[in-house]
Amino acid sequence: MQSTIKLTDAQIAFYHREGYLAIDAITTPKEVAWLREIYDRLFAQRAGREEGNQFDLAGADEEGAEASLPQILLPVKYAPELANTLCRANTLAIAKQLLGPEAEYHGEHAILKPAFHGAETPWHQDEAYWDPDLEYNELSAWIPLQEANLENGCMHFIPGSHQLEVTPHHSINHDPRIHGLEIDEIDAAKAVACPLPPGGATFHGPRTLHYTPPNRSAIPRRAYILGFGTPAKKRTTPRDFYWNRQKQTAREERAQRIQGKI
Ligand code: NI
Repeated sequence: MQSTIKLTDAQIAFYHREGYLAIDAITTPKEVAWLREIYDRLFAQRAGREEGNQFDLAGADEEGAEASLPQILLPVKYAPELANTLCRANTLAIAKQLLGPEAEYHGEHAILKPAFHGAETPWHQDEAYWDPDLEYNELSAWIPLQEANLENGCMHFIPGSHQLEVTPHHSINHDPRIHGLEIDEIDAAKAVACPLPPGGATFHGPRTLHYTPPNRSAIPRRAYILGFGTPAKKRTTPRDFYWNRQKQTAREERAQRIQGKI
């Protein structure tokens, strides 16, 4: 698929200054409707559950309990048609403009906030989930498949926070069974909300502080997230992301079981 989008110099400068960028259309309304059908089918089928690729980001993820923030890692694995979309071509084209021409697709996930009870995604830096021994040149493109607004959980950022180091996080509710992370301390006074039409997108870096509120609306809030970057490099100064070593999630147990490790 050919990309159809190009950022202006002002948009590129905004991203590097503020650590995020919002644009109103990354794809066509027709593709958004098609993506929404695939998305709902994958969640209805609980795609990836056994491999540990579908789980509750904000709860203990017990069998039979309704997830408050269900997530699917690598939806493209369960719907291969997602590999050839305009939104992927366009987000890749933007990633090349922002990170360099060698930037490539690194993966994707889907985070659903069910109607009326979808939980908040607490303030965090994405890099806090990753390998502390590596240095990253990455970004995430966050694409709502319906309107995203204050009521249903649109993206919020802290401008300039991409300049911070990774600061300490903990599992949500300090419960090591929960996959989702929350930053220990946050001053959200300068937070900026980014409401978007369906098929818009926000872009943010691995250290940009971001948050989405709970879904208080009557429709599900579907977000499709694509990751891009250049190859990570080995860091020379060590870091300890101890909050990940303390985790004991049911998702990890399912993944190990299917790999024959337990
Ligand atoms: Ni995130």
